[in-house]
Amino acid sequence: MSIRLGVCYYPEHWPETMWDSDARRMKALGIKQVRIGEFAWSRIEPSPGDLRWDWLDRAIDVLARHGLEVVMCTPTATPPKWLVDRHDDLLAVDANGRPRAFGSRRHYDFSSDAYFEESQRIVRLVGQRYGNHPAVTAWQTDNEYGCHQTVVSYSAAAQRRFRLWLRARYGSIEALNTAWGTVFWSMEYRSFDEIDAPIGTVTEAHPSHRLDYRRFASDEVVRYNRMQVELLREHSPGRLIVHNFMQMFLEFDHYPVAADLDVATWDSYPLGALEVMWFTPETRARWLRTGHPDFASFNHDLYRGMSAQPFWVMEQQPGPVNWADWNPHPLPGMVRLWSWEAFSHGAGCVSYFRWRQVPFAQEQMHAGLNRPDDQLDVGGEEAARVAQEIEQVTQAAGALGQPRGKVALLFDYSAKWLFEIHPQGEDFLYARFAFEYYSTLRSLGLDVDIIPVEAPLNGYALIVVPPLPVVPDDLAARLQHSGAQVVFGPRSGSKTVSLQIPATLAPGALQEILPIKVWRVESLRPNVSEPVQLGRLQGHATHWRDLIETGDGVETLAEFADGHPAIVRHQRVHYLAAIFDAGLTQRYFEQLAQAAGLEPQRLPDTLRLQRRGGLTFAFNYADTAVALPQVAGATFIVGQPDVPPQGVAIYRPAQE
Ligand code: GAL
Repeated sequence: MSIRLGVCYYPEHWPETMWDSDARRMKALGIKQVRIGEFAWSRIEPSPGDLRWDWLDRAIDVLARHGLEVVMCTPTATPPKWLVDRHDDLLAVDANGRPRAFGSRRHYDFSSDAYFEESQRIVRLVGQRYGNHPAVTAWQTDNEYGCHQTVVSYSAAAQRRFRLWLRARYGSIEALNTAWGTVFWSMEYRSFDEIDAPIGTVTEAHPSHRLDYRRFASDEVVRYNRMQVELLREHSPGRLIVHNFMQMFLEFDHYPVAADLDVATWDSYPLGALEVMWFTPETRARWLRTGHPDFASFNHDLYRGMSAQPFWVMEQQPGPVNWADWNPHPLPGMVRLWSWEAFSHGAGCVSYFRWRQVPFAQEQMHAGLNRPDDQLDVGGEEAARVAQEIEQVTQAAGALGQPRGKVALLFDYSAKWLFEIHPQGEDFLYARFAFEYYSTLRSLGLDVDIIPVEAPLNGYALIVVPPLPVVPDDLAARLQHSGAQVVFGPRSGSKTVSLQIPATLAPGALQEILPIKVWRVESLRPNVSEPVQLGRLQGHATHWRDLIETGDGVETLAEFADGHPAIVRHQRVHYLAAIFDAGLTQRYFEQLAQAAGLEPQRLPDTLRLQRRGGLTFAFNYADTAVALPQVAGATFIVGQPDVPPQGVAIYRPAQE
């Protein structure tokens, strides 16, 4: 699989006199593909039915003339003003019942029939116009589904479709009443038509109702994207169809959306992410200008696991962004490091956002590869260097296969919704805990595949399951079959699919392979921790404790100070009854990896390794040089055994 660079470009933002020189300079820099058009509806169709293709025809032709491939987008993320004004049910509605106003983007409602039809119309038109253009090699549907909290809408249209969704899921209102447990507080319904969206209630709305509303909203995204994919396949046969997902974004289930695509792509903004995710002020300060060493990787491994063909980074941060509370600039070398990191985790393409910083509107403070005065910026220089290095690596190693870890991390979108709807402890954050398990595995030098709970498990030596509240019925048997060491986080198996407590208590369906019973739970305030003893190692638990009764053959490996089991094991299945501090988690995962026959290697927290296609890639996030461990006899293609700050090394390890 060849690896390549791309860029995001907005010809409609620039005078036409600049297009030729832009395309020539892109080509000279080593760019192979250019994404265009995702926000251009008001220029394609300035008023109803008045289609203006001429400028877009010319823009595509300029790119094609310079030998650049075009990733064409459907412009549905930004319905223009006239379109919004034409229909009264097009806008999404927030939890306070207010329509989301025109004047930015993503204001549409996934459930609006009118918008569905308007989308079909414009996708068909763009598809017909460019579907067979030789320069158009791929399509992006829409842009970043769900960005700016736009998955869930409480519109009348959404409510109507929710009722249909419930009817299809439950068949009868009696089944729904039983599944949800609506007898509580006299919430019983006599028909599906009586069920509203779960908002505006006096105190919390019914959790099962809320969970189903989230599932429904997620399915609406799948439906909407599928409509676009089907039209594009019809009008543009043989082209790749992709969507650009967001970083660590869990508001809809990405797996079924990705299943309809050829390539899952995602938008990587490591410095922005650090500011807006759960990280502590200390962590933010520590990685201020590099991003957290495991954050982009987590997303690479996640999207690799759902992409039929090698995933892409569709938007790569090129310099400071504009949208976080603080927007530092990346240290010199980071744009190159992030690019190689993506390739090492399996990316087929890294595409920078954007070609040139735009001097107007919302994103005028967002860097591009070029400055607004059209001089190449630092990110542009680093991209040019990556392009040269791609040649070097390709010559030395040929096409690179996909990475394949011996360690799997099972990831589940709906776990996030469930813990959010029914938290029991305010700071029980699914994404954070999944990330922390992942980061611990990476700190041990292990390559990780992030896969859905339903994925085949053969070939893995170690399977790590972050807190998984709803365990599918067949999971226990599949884990048993896999032969792998398996470890579960707390609260696993604690709920049924309709969000009730399992009849045999947690971990419910897992009791087949893990004969324990969680008889009580407690959440812990942020300033409270409970001491834990693992062999000679003293650690502590935070956030949560499961109090466990153990059955036959279950061994207690670590205990809380008050005598309750903290880590238990039954044969190859391990259970963590709490969230533990980083040191204890690392020690335990190291033991597990050893038991699984892997060779964990403790790395400094500033050094990360990844293997792809017989090569090892090393990334130094530190301010000082690092000497790579175990590289005697290795052949270096890029860099050396001493990796400078923010440096990259690519080498073929010595044959054993
Ligand atoms: C992404 C989006 C782009 C641009 C970018 C800025 O979320 O897809 O259109 O807004 O962020 O960082």
